[in-house]
Amino acid sequence: MESAFETDPELLEKVINLAKRRGFIFQSAEIYGGFRSTYDYGPLGVNMLRNVKAAWWREMVQMRLDVVGIDAAILGPPAVWAASGHLETFTDPLVDCRKCKERWREDKIDGVCPKCGSTEFTEARAFNLMFKTQAGPVEGEGATAYLRPETAQGMFTNFNNVISTIRKKPPFGIAQIGKSFRNEITPQNFVFRTREFEQMEMEFFVPPAEAEQWYRYWIDQRFNWYLNLGIPSDMLRLHEHAKEDLSHYSRGTTDVEFAYPWGWDELEGIANRGDYDLTQHSNASGTKLEYFDQAANERYTPYVIEPAAGATRAMMAFLLAAYHEDEVEGETRTVLRLDWRLAPYQIAVLPLSKKPELEGVSREVLSILQPYFACDYDVTQSIGRRYRRQDEVGTPYCITVDFDSLEDRAVTVRDRDTTEQVRVPIGDLLANMRARTNQH
Ligand code: GAP
Repeated sequence: MESAFETDPELLEKVINLAKRRGFIFQSAEIYGGFRSTYDYGPLGVNMLRNVKAAWWREMVQMRLDVVGIDAAILGPPAVWAASGHLETFTDPLVDCRKCKERWREDKIDGVCPKCGSTEFTEARAFNLMFKTQAGPVEGEGATAYLRPETAQGMFTNFNNVISTIRKKPPFGIAQIGKSFRNEITPQNFVFRTREFEQMEMEFFVPPAEAEQWYRYWIDQRFNWYLNLGIPSDMLRLHEHAKEDLSHYSRGTTDVEFAYPWGWDELEGIANRGDYDLTQHSNASGTKLEYFDQAANERYTPYVIEPAAGATRAMMAFLLAAYHEDEVEGETRTVLRLDWRLAPYQIAVLPLSKKPELEGVSREVLSILQPYFACDYDVTQSIGRRYRRQDEVGTPYCITVDFDSLEDRAVTVRDRDTTEQVRVPIGDLLANMRARTNQH
C-alpha cells in the first residue's frame, strides 16, 4: 500500500513519543510491563479524545433533527450475538508458525512468518474475536456474556424502544459512542488496532427504496467531517469494497481511508446493511422490528445505512495529520496544527514572570475564558520555552500577561500557526477569542 505522498519515515515513532512525553497516551499498566496492546489516555489525551467525540456528537446528533442518541450496555447475552451473526462469522483465520510457534492472522502475512521467516504453518482455524465472560457468580447455562465487539447492535435491539418513545419516522438515525472490544490477533500500530477501543456509530433507518441515495449521502458527509476538522484532502480518500470482500451483513461498504505512515488504511466504514439486522433480531427474538407507515398504511422493515467510526483511531489520524516540524526564529519547533475544536487546550494563559503582581491579572484572564475554553496555566520557565511547549501539544492561542498589563489592562495573544502576536484589551478578550474560533 503506497501512500499518496512522502511521509517522514519516523512520523509514527515521533507521534508515539510525543503522545507519551506530553500526557496524551500511555501504555496501560506500564509499571507492570504493559498489558497486551491496551492504552490509557492521559490528561491531554482525555481532553482530545473527548473533543473528537464531542465534534462527532455535535455534527451527528446535536445539529440534526433526524438523529437521536442512546448509550447501551457493553455486556450482552449470547442471543444478541447469535442473531447478529457475530458468534458464527466474526472470526479471523488463525495460523501458528511451525518453527517459532508465533500466532498470526493468515490473511495478513503472505505465507511468510514475520518473526522467523518460516513458511511452514498449521492449518488455519477460525478464531472468534469476541471476549467471552461470565455474568453473575454461577457458571454455565445463562451466565455467558460477551463484551460487545461493536456498538451497533444496541441501536437495533432498541429500535422499538426508540420508535415508541420519540416521534421519528424513517429516514432517521440512532447514534452511540462507546467502548467496544475485539480480541484482535495482531493488534498493531499504536492505537490504530487495539483490543479495547472506542467507536462512534450511527444506524440510519430508511425506506428500502431510498437506501442507495442515503448511502451516498453519508459517505459524503463523513468524508467532509474529517476535512472540516483539518485533515488535508491529500491524506484522505474513499475506497469502495469489492462485492466479494463485503462483511456478512453488507450490501455495499465504502471506507474513508487515511494516509497512515504505513500507507492507506481504514479510518471509518460506511455500510449499507440492508434489512439484515432488524430481520435477524425480529426472527430470533420473536419481536417484530418494523415501521408502520400510517400514510401508506403499510408495514416494512427499514434498511440501515451505517457510518461506523473509531474515536481512538480518529484521534490517532488527527494527531498524525497535525504533526509538523517547522522553523521559528532560526529554531526547529514541533507543532501540532490541530483544529481548535480538537486541541487538548484551546488557550494557555502565561504570566510573563512568577512575580506575585502578575498573578491577580492572570487569574482574572483565566476566569473570563475558562467557562468557554479549555485553558492551561503555566508559569514555569522562559516564555519562549512555554510557547514551544504549547505549540507541541497544539494549543492554538497563548495569552501572555506582562507588567504593562497592570497599566494598560491589555494582554498579548499569540497565534500558534503564524506566531503572530497582537495586543488585546482584557475587556475584549472573550469576544476576540470567540471571533478567532468562529463563535460569534
Ligand atoms: N458496526 C460496524 C463496525 O463495527 P468496523 O469496520 O469493524 O465496523 C468500525 O469498525 C470502525 O471502528 C473502524 O473503521 C475503526 O475506526 C474502528 N475500529 C474497529 N476495530 C478497531 C480496533 N481493533 N481498534 C481500534 N479501532 C477499531
